[in-house]
This record gives sequence, C-alpha cells and structure tokens, in this order.
Amino acid sequence: MKFRKILAAGAGAALAFTLAACSGGGAGSSDDSTADATGGTDGAMTEGGTIGVAMPTQTSERWIADGDAVKAGLEAAGYSVDLQFGNDDIPTQSQQIDSMITSGVDALIIAAIDGTALKAQLDQAHDAGIPVISYDRLIRDSEYVDFYVTFDNYKVGVQQATSLLVGLGILDESGAETGEAGPFNVELFAGSLDDNNAHFFWSGAMDTLQPYIDSGALVVPSGEMDINVTNTQQWKQETAQTRMDTLLTTYYVGTDLKVDGVLSPYDGISRGIITALQNQGYSGTVADGFPVVTGQDAEIASVKLIADDVQFATIFKDTRKLADQAVTATLAYLEGGEPEANDTTTYDNGVKVVPSYLLESDIVYADNIQSLLVDSGYWTAEEVEAGQAS
Ligand code: BGC
Repeated sequence: MKFRKILAAGAGAALAFTLAACSGGGAGSSDDSTADATGGTDGAMTEGGTIGVAMPTQTSERWIADGDAVKAGLEAAGYSVDLQFGNDDIPTQSQQIDSMITSGVDALIIAAIDGTALKAQLDQAHDAGIPVISYDRLIRDSEYVDFYVTFDNYKVGVQQATSLLVGLGILDESGAETGEAGPFNVELFAGSLDDNNAHFFWSGAMDTLQPYIDSGALVVPSGEMDINVTNTQQWKQETAQTRMDTLLTTYYVGTDLKVDGVLSPYDGISRGIITALQNQGYSGTVADGFPVVTGQDAEIASVKLIADDVQFATIFKDTRKLADQAVTATLAYLEGGEPEANDTTTYDNGVKVVPSYLLESDIVYADNIQSLLVDSGYWTAEEVEAGQAS
C-alpha cells in the first residue's frame, strides 16, 4: 500500500517530543473527548493533517487515558486529532470510523469494540490510502491492518494466573513454588469473546493454572472452565457480578464450600466479583481470608482496593507507552516509511500475521503500588488514597 505522505520535513523531529507530550498525563488525566486543535509545539510543524482515533468506551478509565495520550502525542507532532469513543456499541464505532474516512483523515488508530466487525471500514480505508494502526486490540479478518501496537497479551494472562497462585500461597512473589498444595476452590472469569485479547489472556492464564488443576491444588467447584462459559460480554462489571452471584448461590451457598480465589481478567470485572462476594457474606481483607481476586489495568478504584487488601492484584499496562508507540508508528507511515516491529509471528488476524510492537506489563501487589504506579507518575499517592482520579 502506498500511503499519502504528509510531513515532508519535521515529523522526525516531532518524534523527539512525542514522549514528553505523552508523559506526566497519568491514567486519570482526561480532557475533552474530541479534538480539532492544530499546530505543533514548534513553529515549523504547521503542515500536519488529521488523524482519526477510535477508542471503544469511556466507561473504563484506561481508554480515556489512552485517547488523551494519543491525542496529545499527535498534536505535539503537528497533527489535528479526531478522537471518538464508541460507547461499547459496535454500530456507533463503525459509523465513527466511516465518517473519519469520509472526512479524509490521513491515518486511523483504532481500538476495536468487536475486532471482527470492521472489515468494511478497513476496505474503505485501504481504497482511500489511509494507513490503519490497530491499537491494543487486534482487528481481525482484514488484510488492511498495517500495524499493531499492544502488550504481550499471553504474558498478561500468565501474570494474572501467577498473581492468583501468589495470593493463594502456592507461589511466592518471585514465582517460586512454596510447597503449598491446597486444595483451593477457585472460579474463573474471561473477557469479551469479540476481543482477540480475551483469548490470549485466557490461554496464558489457563496454561499457567492447568498443572495445579491437574494436581488437585486448585479445584473449580462449578466445573466452568471453558471460555465459552466463563466469558464476560463487553467486559461488563454487572455481567460479572451476576455470574459470580449465580456461581455462589448454585455451588457454594448451603454447602461447606468457600471460594478461595477468582481469576479475573479486568479490574471492572474484579469489582463486580468482589461486590457479589461481599453481598453473599464474604468480608474483610485477603489477610483475613477474603478470596484472592486478580485484575488488569490498574484502575484507580482497584488500586485502592489493593492498597486496602480487598482486591489482591492487578496488571499494570502503561498506556502512556502504548500511546507513544501508536504515535511513533503512525508518523512512520506518514513519513513514507514503516514502523519498527518487535514481533512478526504472534498476531495472526485470520488473514495475515500483523507486524506488531509488544510492550511489557507488571503485576501490581499492595507492596509495589508505590514503585510501579506512584513513582512513575501514573497515579499520585493522594489518588490511591482516595480511590479516584483527581
Ligand atoms: C484490554 C484490557 C482491558 C479490556 C477491557 C482489553 O482489550 O487489553 O487492558 O482490560 O480490554 O477494557
């Protein structure tokens, strides 16, 4: 594909201050959800075009932070940004992307709601010479995904399962086995089936947990161990709360069984699970015997729950770094080049293996909130204390 070349000069230099523009925003920072500012931070950068940025939802703070950071980085490089959130509604997102293409954007950065639903949009983008960067979630079934920026999603799943095993005392924080053999009662939750990531998280987690299920150290009293049953449509907190409640009333209430741990793939789901547990009489902290619940995204409400020893862990994916990679990749195309991939084998979208740039993630426990989240400026100590972004 031959892309339109926007910035003959200056875009390379723009990369140098992309990082600065993206840093310091924190996950909680947010400004207007749409933007049309023009102009860069230096007078030479006045020739930028417009980049369409499609994010899935504003119900989860990480996507607001992602959108803000991508917008800030592109604006610092001299581009206008059309940033839209799809309200977790597939037709809404498709229409937003349709109008971005119609209005003549120069590149698209898309975090899909349903990774299989954008083939028509990508066909149109290709016909119009618009490069498409798949952001965090892989767009499937189209050859016109040019590049993918994300985290090592299989490893995120491994980390989620590892944190469950650490919380149960089967592993220590270094990942070494302690000799603890259970048995522990656990229940398992997966993400939304239409999100390619959910399958990677699940595979990483189940590959890690299966040996302990096989040895009998972990028992799943419900028997629900298939992603077609454990998934949570659209990653919704209420859906997870309802399923956890059903699991409790069906398999635990009125028996001697107690839940010891729950694999959760996302902090919103974790909070739904925790609420269901509390509604059924589980109380106190993990140290007191509250079930070990995992998570993902280091959302501020969950970081506080971790600091308070109610949620056990989450996975921190620094969205500032992801946004920076998305900006870098976009500028590479607009300069007529190719972004640098660090993975060219993992992400087959059903039509082709999409060249990818994968970032690393970290497990957050109560004892490293300070070093991972506060010292890096992702959240302030006050925000952690309050459980909300300031
Ligand atoms: C992202 C996760 C997020 C989930 C729900 C996934 O695609 O990779 O970070 O927790 O969507 O928003």
